[in-house]
Amino acid sequence: MKTLLFVVLMTIPLFGSVSSKTQCDGVSLNIDTKWLTMDLECKEKMAAQVQTELNAAMTYLAMGAHFSKDRENRPGFAKFFFESASEEREHAIKIISYLLMRTNPADYLKGLISEPKPLKTEWTSGVDALENALSLETNVTVSIRDIISSCEGGTNDYHLVDYLSGEFLDEQYKGQRELAGMISTLQKMTDGQGVLGEYLFDKKLLNNELF
Ligand SMILES: *[C@@H]1O[C@H](CO)[C@@H](O)[C@H](O)[C@H]1NC(C)=O
Ligand SMILES: [Fe+2]
Repeated sequence: MKTLLFVVLMTIPLFGSVSSKTQCDGVSLNIDTKWLTMDLECKEKMAAQVQTELNAAMTYLAMGAHFSKDRENRPGFAKFFFESASEEREHAIKIISYLLMRTNPADYLKGLISEPKPLKTEWTSGVDALENALSLETNVTVSIRDIISSCEGGTNDYHLVDYLSGEFLDEQYKGQRELAGMISTLQKMTDGQGVLGEYLFDKKLLNNELF
């Protein structure tokens, strides 16, 4: 984030007593760019992933709000999905930070975040929302694996591949397994007990007693 701040500060026009603009003009900085080794396709896919993570964040935010409604009143689901939304936002920040470390953001930073919006805003039940969350995570995993495929070719960006595998795929696979387990438990509870099953599941989720 320091780099971003630097770029922003350097592009603020100079006013007042400074007589010559040329001394401190960020645009005319002449820094060698050979150290910028990320492939264009790889860089573009990473930039697009920021939007994917933010769409996931917005979808989880919508889920949290949905389960907070008086007609739903499921505080455990609401808490779980609001926390998931924060995690997705953190993922977006991690990818932005990586891009700022490896690339010159002047090329693409303006278009990085356009219109994050939820992919869906209505769910019929807890099981429906969890199944939607699992589908969402499955798609995010496909998207990360696609970045890995692009970046392991070309300039063999093993640092990025290692980062994505270790930091992102690890969390994806654990999260997918967690959601699948939750769907299984909730499905069994509601098959036997109907809405009472969902009510109890929500209480367990709220008090971190599910796992
Ligand atoms: C995941 O991708 C599939 C195939 O493109 C799509 O049908 C589905 O709606 C996506 N899931 C979510 C939650 O967006
Ligand atoms: Fe994510």
